[in-house]
Amino acid sequence: MRKKFLPVVISVASALAMTGCGKKSEEAASAAPRIFVMVPKGVHPYYEPCYEGFKDAAGKYGVKVEYRAAKAFEVPQQVEIIENIIARRVDGIAISALDDQGLVPVIEEAVKAGIKVITFDAPAPSSKALTYIGTMNEAAGYAGAEELIKILNGEGEVAVIQGGLGAPNLNDRFKGFVRCLKEKAPNIKIVAREDEQGKMDLTVNKTEALLQAHPNLTAIFGVSAEVCPGASAALKQQGRGGKIILAGFDDLPDTLAGIRSGVVNFCIAQRTYKMGWLSVEKLRDALEGKPLPKEIDTGVVIINKDNVDTYMQDMKKEFGK
Ligand code: BGC
Repeated sequence: MRKKFLPVVISVASALAMTGCGKKSEEAASAAPRIFVMVPKGVHPYYEPCYEGFKDAAGKYGVKVEYRAAKAFEVPQQVEIIENIIARRVDGIAISALDDQGLVPVIEEAVKAGIKVITFDAPAPSSKALTYIGTMNEAAGYAGAEELIKILNGEGEVAVIQGGLGAPNLNDRFKGFVRCLKEKAPNIKIVAREDEQGKMDLTVNKTEALLQAHPNLTAIFGVSAEVCPGASAALKQQGRGGKIILAGFDDLPDTLAGIRSGVVNFCIAQRTYKMGWLSVEKLRDALEGKPLPKEIDTGVVIINKDNVDTYMQDMKKEFGK
């Protein structure tokens, strides 16, 4: 019986909100902190520094931030997460896009709901996202190949491992990588391109299979973050660490350890902290009606034995950390 009265109580409260007291609560609402949500491709340690930067910038500007990650790198899961965020009427969303076309409708939905949407790390060029903040991926893939060519002296068999075949950021890296080999080292052959869906365990399995299928393999190049850690585990297990050239994107702790021990030759570190930090700044700009550039290049750094212990300090200097 008591429950029956509840709606009445609520409507009295909302009636009050429309009177003089209502004005006050409107003011309070406008003074309430903005809410920005970061949506990575899925659960993955790569995104930890991205969210660090997002949180630190939020602290500086008095914004509230949240992190919503799907369990797996699967487009329907990412779409569902974004739909739930839209329903909560937040102020801004920063997405690392798993797919281009697959995210077009949900980003449009968010925009229609008045939410500012940007992409970071991985763009969705066909969508209505206001900007992309991250690596210029084709150029970075090209730079990775240039570095590899130096080590291979222009010859060899390379396998590429990629975490998902749908995301434009990874496909652009692959494109740049292939173009560079064609232009500068036609005697280096890409003998395989494997998808491990962003999963570490699958990367280990795929590496083992590659070693078996390609006895003359000289190098493995990873276009996503789990490749160097996963492939180095497989190489070490087979006693082939340091014998097969291994290189690729990102500076996860195991990749850096691999560089120090000689199992990984080099990695291309993206400025993940900066991506997160700038995401907050650009969402704020968008809310203030400022125009955003189509893309913002955060840059990359090639890490090898020479700078593995110093590059992080240099990167942090920019943020006074
Ligand atoms: C990419 C991310 C990806 C991550 C893990 C990084 O290289 O930039 O888009 O989620 O690897 O696969």
